[in-house]
Amino acid sequence: MLDRIQQIKQDIAAFKIETAADLEAFRLKYLSKKGQMNDLFEAFKTVSKDQKREIGQKLNELKVLLNETFEKYKEVAEQHAAASSSDSDLTLPGESFPLGSRHPISIAMNEICDIFAKLGFSVAEGPEIEDDWHVFSALNFPPEHPARDMQDTFFIQKCPDILLRTHTSSVQVRVMERMKPPIRMIMPGRVFRNEAISARSHCIFHQVEGLYIAEDVSFTDLKQTLLAFAREMFGEKTDIRLRPSYFPFTEPSAEMDVSCSCGGKGCNLCKYTGWLEVLGCGMVDPAVLEANGIDSKKYTGFAFGIGVERMALMKYKIKDIRTYFENDVRFLQQFSTAF
Ligand code: PHE
Repeated sequence: MLDRIQQIKQDIAAFKIETAADLEAFRLKYLSKKGQMNDLFEAFKTVSKDQKREIGQKLNELKVLLNETFEKYKEVAEQHAAASSSDSDLTLPGESFPLGSRHPISIAMNEICDIFAKLGFSVAEGPEIEDDWHVFSALNFPPEHPARDMQDTFFIQKCPDILLRTHTSSVQVRVMERMKPPIRMIMPGRVFRNEAISARSHCIFHQVEGLYIAEDVSFTDLKQTLLAFAREMFGEKTDIRLRPSYFPFTEPSAEMDVSCSCGGKGCNLCKYTGWLEVLGCGMVDPAVLEANGIDSKKYTGFAFGIGVERMALMKYKIKDIRTYFENDVRFLQQFSTAF
């Protein structure tokens, strides 16, 4: 019987256990009711008294060894099972990643830039955190102009004034500093004004600035450029209307309305006027050209600043400007195909 015990010990050492099935085979062979361990205990009953002590000890050792081996491989087999879980079907197609979509403001900005690119304008950008010179002084804002007031402008620091730009006209100044005429640029960007948030206005919004400076640029060029732009953006039948206005950096100045898509019948969007205001514009004031080192006797120019939110409101028939900034995916997903 001692030989038999010895033999089983060797067999155990050679037994290959990797999977749950191997482990079960091991259990059946040695530890189950019909296993070899039980057979040995049966046989032990017939062992003579003088041998009982020695064989009993060996038998117990074997039992401990078998149990330990079983426990050890149980863990191994469990890990193996987790790694190659039968739940995963590797032939299934992979899960698709949800595709993001462009924000309607980005779509509108890109479209505006594309239209002006066709008209020969190139793109420039400038910083959102600016100084007083680029946002106000170089643009002919007198020192006490109300637009500099704390109520309109988010100041970051006073003396010297550092602020969040209130319009993209600051980039006009940066462009004029760098370039000599002819200049034909558009400048898209985000601007900030300390205003109450409502359905029609927000303290953060976007503009696309335009600047054209060359010899003999006239108001007619401005009007024709803006008409071509409005028709590209809103369709062939679109009309524009220029109303006299005032900006410190343009003279004369105007505000441009485009005919509403309601066709003049009147709707909520145009407040029943048939027209929607979308941009400010004018001829660059000679004082601004001079302040930026451009000879105002030789060159003239026009500038405009398009309100992108307004454009997108019209284009996509959005009712409330605040929805642009709420990041509600149900709103944003509606634009997923409008690339
Ligand atoms: N900067 C003006 C605004 O924010 C718009 C504008 C730009 C007007 C260029 C004239 C010329 O209201």
